[in-house]
Amino acid sequence: MDKHSRRNVLKVGGALGALGALSLATPAQAVPWTWAASGSVAGAGAGTDPRWVWDPEADPLVASLLDRGDVPRVNELLRTWTKNGQPLPAGLPADLRDFMEGARQLPSWADQGKLATAFEFNEKRGLYLGLLYGLASGMMSTVIPKEARAVYYSQGGADMKDRISKTAKLGYDIGTRNAFAPDGEMIVTCVKTRLVHAAVRHLLPQSPHWSGVADEEIPISQRDMMVTWHSLPTTVMQKLVAWKVPIPAAESEAFLHSWQLGAHMLGIMDEYIPATWAEANSQAKQVLDPILAPTPEGIKLADILLNLGSPVDGGILSKPILGSFTRFLLGDRIAGWLNIPRELIWDPLLRTAWGPFIAVREGLLPFPGAPEAYWLFDEFLRKAALLFLSEARPISIEIPDTNRPS
Ligand code: HEM
Repeated sequence: MDKHSRRNVLKVGGALGALGALSLATPAQAVPWTWAASGSVAGAGAGTDPRWVWDPEADPLVASLLDRGDVPRVNELLRTWTKNGQPLPAGLPADLRDFMEGARQLPSWADQGKLATAFEFNEKRGLYLGLLYGLASGMMSTVIPKEARAVYYSQGGADMKDRISKTAKLGYDIGTRNAFAPDGEMIVTCVKTRLVHAAVRHLLPQSPHWSGVADEEIPISQRDMMVTWHSLPTTVMQKLVAWKVPIPAAESEAFLHSWQLGAHMLGIMDEYIPATWAEANSQAKQVLDPILAPTPEGIKLADILLNLGSPVDGGILSKPILGSFTRFLLGDRIAGWLNIPRELIWDPLLRTAWGPFIAVREGLLPFPGAPEAYWLFDEFLRKAALLFLSEARPISIEIPDTNRPS
């Protein structure tokens, strides 16, 4: 592969990371909620199925902003609000200001020591994280039916590239040194995203497409948000463990902590946020694994994602490589749902060489004469991670005021 086409292949891999957080599904096979709140960061809770809980604070407020026609003005004002410690801009409606002043406060259980360790982990493991957010979480979002549908029929669905770069911002912000500190941006990103989700809950039920495809009235329940959350940190950690990447217990716990805090700041209630990886894995088994399924919308989204490199290389290299990585990371069943073809060269190469590549990289195996494939993989990792991060920077997350136009 020449340097140019490889760069573009990797750019797509990076961009896909963004989608991880975005995507919507059929709760047809959703199982009853039995996960106990004793395993949550709150340690206790009412045990209500989060399928029927949304965001009681943000939802009526944003519905009212939309009905009052305030959203364009609010978006304009909020464009200047970028740092966690920055005062809110003057001129916001008083009800929104009051809500945001509360929503930007970290919970009492935020642990600065763990956040510092999480940054060390993100720095050390940024290459793997870039690839996994992109191709494991990102592509998984297309087989989460409720997420795929919400993304497809909401305003941003008409421009997936823009959508992806906005979502990539969250993946970028959470990995920075000062993510939740006054000079960081993760709190701002979360609070704005919370407002975006509240707007989608009000707008999507008004879409003419929505009643035809969705078996629910109001999208993005607390349960849906946990499903998407598991497609991110839980899936990423499961892959790192499966690849035998050595991770000290403190770093693993710290990475979880940063995502627990992310969930809280996105408006997920503490009684639904798992306290440990064991609890996260058990909740994911209940809420994520059984609902994965293909939908026409998800298949279209996956195709858009796999074709993101096509304007540059005609899809000749980027599409097969991204498709093959998706099959490798998510398995034959999901690859089949997404109509990803088998690749005669890439599929066997990834199956046989990825494990040894990680082992060599991690110093777990002696260096076996630098096979070409290892360098290619390393290059892929670096580019995917770098581009994933660079996609994210100058983006402003805005509250939508319409659905997808057609
Ligand atoms: C928008 C993250 C869960 C549907 C966004 C954005 C981010 C984000 C950063 C802003 C990007 C933009 O404006 O385009 C997350 C995270 C989640 C989560 C981290 C869970 C932990 C969900 C779920 C759904 C969903 C469960 C649907 C079931 C949407 C939609 C938009 C959006 C439709 C875009 C609205 C628009 O502008 O058209 N999300 N999200 N999200 N999210 Fe989520």
